[in-house]
Amino acid sequence: MSEMSSTEQQPETEIDLAAAEALLGTDADRFKHDYLEVRGLRVEFDGFVAVRDVDLTVTQGDLRFLIGPNGAGKTTLIDAVTGLVRATGSVSFGRTALLGRSTHRIARAGVGRTFQTASVFEELTVLQNLDIAAGARRAPLTLLRRRPATPEAVEHALETVGLTALRDVPAGVLAHGQKQWLEIGMLLVQDAHLLLLDEPVAGMTQAEREETGQLLRRIGSQRVVVVVEHDMEFLRSFADSVTVMHQGRVLAEGTVNEVQNDPAVVEVYLGAPTQGDLA
Ligand SMILES: Nc1ncnc2c1ncn2[C@@H]1O[C@H](COP(=O)(O)OP(=O)(O)OP(=O)(O)O)[C@@H](O)[C@H]1O
Ligand SMILES: [Mg+2]
Repeated sequence: MSEMSSTEQQPETEIDLAAAEALLGTDADRFKHDYLEVRGLRVEFDGFVAVRDVDLTVTQGDLRFLIGPNGAGKTTLIDAVTGLVRATGSVSFGRTALLGRSTHRIARAGVGRTFQTASVFEELTVLQNLDIAAGARRAPLTLLRRRPATPEAVEHALETVGLTALRDVPAGVLAHGQKQWLEIGMLLVQDAHLLLLDEPVAGMTQAEREETGQLLRRIGSQRVVVVVEHDMEFLRSFADSVTVMHQGRVLAEGTVNEVQNDPAVVEVYLGAPTQGDLA
């Protein structure tokens, strides 16, 4: 199981490894056998099929990147798993079937996601944002009671995502990268064990990307994590495996090397000069 072996002092601005271990280790046993399983997924918008015949299995400890050109259906797939759009087929997380459930119940089943644009409460402090996320797990009556101290899970999340020093500043003044970390922290305090992250490093500096990658690595070792990402250097550095989507379907799947050398993948990216970037 997880152990807190590191006694090194981390500088304040960096993500605290020991805190991450303590937080991520919580309930690890309970979720050890969790995995995302998608079968025959299909999403239609007024006759336009945005996702079709998608099968996808992602296990804990396999940091999965989901790539594909613009419009490939990556976000729609996440929307379907989290209940934001209607879909047919089947989606389950561990033993829980997700399709047809409300977004709220899907979140309660331990499924969390971020959006392409950060969606934190800008006027509230970092701590208040995390507290609200933690409150999403509590019954309404307990929310009304005065709570004397910051919950442990919130403290740990602050440390894990490296925002302890900024806990009392309004989220609106955070740098772009820090807002994404706050969102990931919010998923951690909600006890999400399946995290679906839509382009988390878009717009980040190189240093922020590196820190984010390390954070995702740690989270991915103990939770099921799917990352939609355009940046190839980031993908090469951090992906355990890659699923490539194109026109709503899964085009290829494998290690970074396997998909990069897959002729169908090369054709999709290199065949369209305006999208020569492996997105
Ligand atoms: N609500 C909607 N109504 C109609 N069409 C939609 C809707 N949402 C998405 N689409 C279409 O479905 C297709 C897949 O879109 P999606 O946003 O999932 O792509 P993506 O892979 O996330 O692309 P990007 O890399 O640009 O974020 C696109 O053709 C898009 O225009
Ligand atoms: Mg998208």
